[in-house]
Amino acid sequence: MKLRYSIIAAVMLIILAVVSTAVAQELRGKHKENAIACVDCHQTETPDSPADVESCLNCHGGFEGMAEATKDLTINPHDSHLGEVDCTECHRIHEPSVLYCNKCHNYQMELK
Ligand code: HEC
Ligand code: HEC
Ligand code: HEC
Ligand code: HEC
Repeated sequence: MKLRYSIIAAVMLIILAVVSTAVAQELRGKHKENAIACVDCHQTETPDSPADVESCLNCHGGFEGMAEATKDLTINPHDSHLGEVDCTECHRIHEPSVLYCNKCHNYQMELK
């Protein structure tokens, strides 16, 4: 009986592991639509650690390019008194993004 329970427990752990990996791999928004590959951000086909922000900078014109892209907004999230903030402080890629500025401010900006 005991053995049976541990087999069930083991199977459930495996399912849990598979499910949580699947959640971590799900891409959001435009990256998904544009079929951006894991290797484009992670430099490997089988990522097991967060992506390097260098990849973002290469495709998106660096900090300067992003500051320019959103310069017409009332508050430019890409150009502030904080200087160069890592993209992933706000854009979480596999999860809903968060506006880092709102640790201190209360801006209403829509983040994808
Ligand atoms: C557009 C860039 C981008 C693409 C494409 C991308 N990732 Fe990621 N991935 C990230 C970033 C950024 C993080 C770190 C997120 C964070 O810490 O908030 C991450 C985190 C992860 C993690 C979690 C690592 C950890 O230590 O917590 C896994 C696993 C992962 N990605 C797998 C994948 C797989 C598999 C694919 C392809 C289906 C993929 N990623 C595609 C940017 C990307
Ligand atoms: C291989 C090139 C590539 C890499 C690497 C890449 N992106 Fe993108 N990203 C794109 C493309 C293409 C789009 C869609 C552009 C469009 O439709 O205007 C996009 C869109 C976005 C958007 C708009 C959000 C949306 O879903 O509408 C954000 C934010 C973004 N990228 C952030 C990042 C961050 C942060 C990283 C690094 C973790 C990253 N990107 C890495 C190519 C890339
Ligand atoms: C402090 C939070 C924050 C950081 C850090 C940040 N972004 Fe953004 N990003 C935003 C917000 C907010 C928007 C939505 C702006 C809007 O309302 O159009 C956005 C929009 C975008 C878009 C949509 C494109 C567009 O022209 O509207 C892209 C692409 C993007 N960010 C890429 C990046 C990249 C690459 C980095 C790192 C160099 C980065 N972001 C760093 C907050 C941030
Ligand atoms: C650690 C806290 C903190 C963070 C994080 C932060 N700020 Fe600030 N910010 C301040 C303080 C303090 C001031 C000056 C006091 C004031 O005027 O409210 C300020 C002032 C400003 C101002 C001047 C206009 C105003 O509201 O008075 C702007 C614009 C601004 N911040 C934008 C940003 C943006 C964009 C981000 C995210 C990229 C950000 N801040 C992140 C603390 C912060």
